[in-house]
Amino acid sequence: MEKVLILDFGGQYNQLIARRVRECHVYCEVRPYTMSLEEIRDFDPMGIIFTGGPNSVYLPDSPQVDPGIFDLNVPVLGICYGCQLIAHTLGGQVTEAQDDSAREYGKTKTYYDTTCPLFRGLPAEGISWMSHGDYMAKVPEGFTLAAHSDACPNVAIAHVERRIYGVQYHPEVNHTQYGTQMIRNFLFEICHASGDWTMADYKEQAIRQVREKVQDGRVLLALSGGVDSSVCAALLAEAIGPQLICVFVDHGLMRLNEGDEVEQAFAKWDMKMVRVNAQDRFLGRLAGVVDPDRKRKIIGEEFIHVFQDEAKKIGAVEFLAQGTIYPDVIESGAGAAAVIKSHHNVGGLPSHVDFKEILEPLRLLFKDEVRQLGRELGLPDYLVDRQPFPGPGLAIRIMGEVTREKADTLRQADFLFRQEVARAGLDHQLSQYFAVLTDTRSVGVMGDGRTYDNVLVLRAVTTDDFMTADWARIPYEVLDRASVAIVNQVRGINRVCYDITSKPPATVEWE
Ligand code: XMP
Repeated sequence: MEKVLILDFGGQYNQLIARRVRECHVYCEVRPYTMSLEEIRDFDPMGIIFTGGPNSVYLPDSPQVDPGIFDLNVPVLGICYGCQLIAHTLGGQVTEAQDDSAREYGKTKTYYDTTCPLFRGLPAEGISWMSHGDYMAKVPEGFTLAAHSDACPNVAIAHVERRIYGVQYHPEVNHTQYGTQMIRNFLFEICHASGDWTMADYKEQAIRQVREKVQDGRVLLALSGGVDSSVCAALLAEAIGPQLICVFVDHGLMRLNEGDEVEQAFAKWDMKMVRVNAQDRFLGRLAGVVDPDRKRKIIGEEFIHVFQDEAKKIGAVEFLAQGTIYPDVIESGAGAAAVIKSHHNVGGLPSHVDFKEILEPLRLLFKDEVRQLGRELGLPDYLVDRQPFPGPGLAIRIMGEVTREKADTLRQADFLFRQEVARAGLDHQLSQYFAVLTDTRSVGVMGDGRTYDNVLVLRAVTTDDFMTADWARIPYEVLDRASVAIVNQVRGINRVCYDITSKPPATVEWE
């Protein structure tokens, strides 16, 4: 299989580089720069990309590479720090920029030599995104200057024969015009990739690997119904069928029909599904609790207890599977010994369930690739395209004490809102949309009578990363339909409000 190796020097855009490469249908992996020459040979890359990084190559403890990497006869592209590293390692000179004009940050007009394979077919000038305080005072022997800016003569360097290229800017970010084409050029013109990597290939390969590893062992998975754990379950079910045991814990704070939907989606596989009705346990422990953090903590702890009880019933299993995905792996230090991360959906897994090894079959996939794989495996859209749902579920959308009655009320209202959003075709445009049950009551009039019921809030946001989010400008008509449906059909709610606060200053969830 054609593979590109991305050596990680700590740059903030490393995931983006991997994204861009995979978007070209070329498989790649991000590995730490400490990877030895031997390991690199074993990896057998068809091209190597050095990422950017926060260091200065001339300082004593800065990350370096084995110069032997340039003799592997594998094309290299260095980005920012990676470019300076090429210069530094091959006999050039990199220094701190003495005058401010040689430091470049942000959008910079750049002129390209379009006879250079890296820039073939591109316009001769464009905007590139720079972020460097160091300067290549001397370019290594044999290299030509392939791009310049008004302030800097050597924005890109190239050794066409040895197929070594370096750019001081970041082609992977959207601010760099034609950046994607430059990466394409590196892959197709310089590495001669065929770009035929598909998710179907990945699926077959992942299934083979799971089978090889698991043999006739048994695998336990906490299935939350979220995208990652669902796709993980589907992949394992496809690979090892009845050796997979999924535990789905219903804490009574799921959305309407959620448990049934999850069960239905997996009905076609011959695997073992344990659906635990633990509503009484969770609701019992939540009685009288109003503090949001206490709610989260109780649910997290109780989940572990329930899971552990089930694991005990199931008996010894060799493997515990988790739906860890690539961004988590890269953030926790790619290639480092597998970090057993606390499952983001269930708030930590028991540390003393007895198993031999952790399986993370999605650990090399980005979120949208996980969805693609889910589709490839035949999971229904309602699971694959699902909006995120927090582990503590409706508990953090019910203000004040959580009761069964309030959970039922909110479940119905939330369902009606989601239904209206989907009917309006907005479900794919919104990142998250749900209802919140407040503990405020207000006076209303229904029929001939006065009501004194709860206020419900609708919340919808758009976001790329959930670190910041904008409240969604949902058309009034959709809000109106949702409001009418909810007040008419859900007992206990006589007033509906819409949350028009972004994050920050608010958060997505109300608690
Ligand atoms: P906030 O409210 O922090 O939410 O702006 C950002 C994203 O995280 C989700 N979220 C959680 N997910 N357990 C989870 O698994 C939690 O305790 C939790 N709290 C918030 C939230 O739904 C949104 O997608």
